[in-house]
Amino acid sequence: MMGKTLKYAGEYRKYINWATFLTFLSVICIIVAYYLANKLLVGFLSKESMGFVYVMFICGGIALSKVIKGFLQGWGLKLSHEGAFGTLYNMRVQFAKDVTNHSLGEIIDNGTGVYKKGFVEDINNLEKILAHFIPEGYPNIFLVIILYVIIFIADWRMGFLSLASLPLGIIPTIVMFKKGLKIMPKYYKVKNDLNSTIIEYISGMEVIKVFGNTAASYGKYVKSVEMNRDSTIGWFRSSWKIQAIVGAGLPCTMLLTLPVGTYMYSTGVLSLDVLILVLMFNLSMAVPLTKIISFLPFIPSVNHAVKNLELIFNRENVCCGLRTQKPENYEVRFENVSFAYQETDVIGNLSLVLHADTLTAFVGESGSGKSTLARLLVHYWDVKSGRITIGGIDIREFTNETLMSMVSYVAQDTLLFSGTIADNIAMGKVGATRDEIIEAAKSAACHDFIIKLENGYDTEVGTLGGKLSGGERQRVTIARAILKDAPIVILDEATAFADAENEALIQQALSKLLNGKTSIVIAHRLNTIINADNIIVLENGEIHAQDPHKDLLKSCPLYKNLWERSERAVNWSLEI
Ligand SMILES: Nc1ncnc2c1ncn2[C@@H]1O[C@H](COP(=O)(O)OP(=O)(O)OP(=O)(O)O)[C@@H](O)[C@H]1O
Ligand SMILES: [Mg+2]
Repeated sequence: MMGKTLKYAGEYRKYINWATFLTFLSVICIIVAYYLANKLLVGFLSKESMGFVYVMFICGGIALSKVIKGFLQGWGLKLSHEGAFGTLYNMRVQFAKDVTNHSLGEIIDNGTGVYKKGFVEDINNLEKILAHFIPEGYPNIFLVIILYVIIFIADWRMGFLSLASLPLGIIPTIVMFKKGLKIMPKYYKVKNDLNSTIIEYISGMEVIKVFGNTAASYGKYVKSVEMNRDSTIGWFRSSWKIQAIVGAGLPCTMLLTLPVGTYMYSTGVLSLDVLILVLMFNLSMAVPLTKIISFLPFIPSVNHAVKNLELIFNRENVCCGLRTQKPENYEVRFENVSFAYQETDVIGNLSLVLHADTLTAFVGESGSGKSTLARLLVHYWDVKSGRITIGGIDIREFTNETLMSMVSYVAQDTLLFSGTIADNIAMGKVGATRDEIIEAAKSAACHDFIIKLENGYDTEVGTLGGKLSGGERQRVTIARAILKDAPIVILDEATAFADAENEALIQQALSKLLNGKTSIVIAHRLNTIINADNIIVLENGEIHAQDPHKDLLKSCPLYKNLWERSERAVNWSLEI
């Protein structure tokens, strides 16, 4: 657990090492202080005459070692926190890089809640190990061992008697630890649910309010919050007694040494020096013992965090290959491709050729698998069997970056990021200049609406582009794809927001984008794809027919039906 965490410390490792060393020195100061106090006490009790200077010297020594101890401890804590937060920074940076290697499908399947918990909560949990457990735990364990050894050397019987309080601390702690491990999965499930309910509640606010479903959604949210409260309070309810026993029992290191030691001293078996030394050291070990034991309850949660982080981020990257060399041509082939989300088959043994520099359209009923085929080509998920090739090379052989540089994918739900319009377009090309951005925007027929905005290209579009209309958003993503200028272009439902004017603008943008590329267009409005070189009619994840528009109209009743419905929809919307 600690090794795995420290792996990320990098240059911050030395802060944690120094912190441990300083705490270690501070612990030695504690021993010195008690040793000096012991000297003084023995002197008083044995009625030896001690010179004033000697007494002042000892008292000064005690005060000084306390001051040095405080200083070293503070300095150590400062360094340990620098080391801890530096390591957490490293982890967050590293994990963000790792996430870019996840397949997109996996990110969708995992959901935002899982990543939020990983990036924020699980990583925060490790602060306990790095800032406290390592730098404070080890030196305190060392201190307790040293004190026990000194007592054993002074008198072995007193040594054994000093161990009496340990079972009072350790046994209940083990019981509590086991209990904690048992309820941990439920506790984390409740926490995860709370996370996703909060995200759902806030991000779904638009739908919740518009559909007047406030009470139901609020009820679900409150239930989740209640469960979180109850599970946390439940834990304290069930463990407070054990904590009380530990708190009372463990520091009682004099439990047997005080009565038995005094008796032994009175019968002359034990000298006063030794008795006082033992009692002093017993006293001084109470605080570090409590400190060590206080770390134990955190171990299951920290362990859970480390395991969870490993599960999400740090594993073999199975989805991509190493090839960075581009293929000689951009012909795309689906060869006997089958695919299923979870159990249900969505694509069944499908073979298809998309010749370079041609436009292929996918049509079919809703749910027939059009978007799934497009996503498979961008490697959201791995195919279950068969393969997809670009220029004869299996897409799994390419690195993620290389594949993405060859394919532009304008998805059904057009995605913009919070940031300016210019940022959103520039995403298409690393280091794009302002002129290139404007050029792309002009080609995508969005320049005119952009310059009318308050800050032009520097207008913030809001989270997920919420400040733009659907059609505008779509044209901005087309501008991004034009700037990217990838040899393969996939366009999912590019005319979804079409009114007559917007549709004309989008068509104009598309002709710029698709020219000279291997293109796939998925469209419900079939009049936009009548000029496609090939039209694939999909039905339940299989190819029902394929041909250009005119031939299909004659030979394929399913296509004819889709076409007529599409035409009716256009006419119907015009009549309204
Ligand atoms: N992430 C997912 N997890 C599980 N099932 C999914 C997922 N995405 C799609 N499906 C299912 O796979 C099938 C094919 O979906 P797909 O999105 O490919 O259809 P489509 O042809 O693009 O439909 P539309 O025209 O409505 O966009 C559908 O039955 C759908 O319910
Ligand atoms: Mg779709």
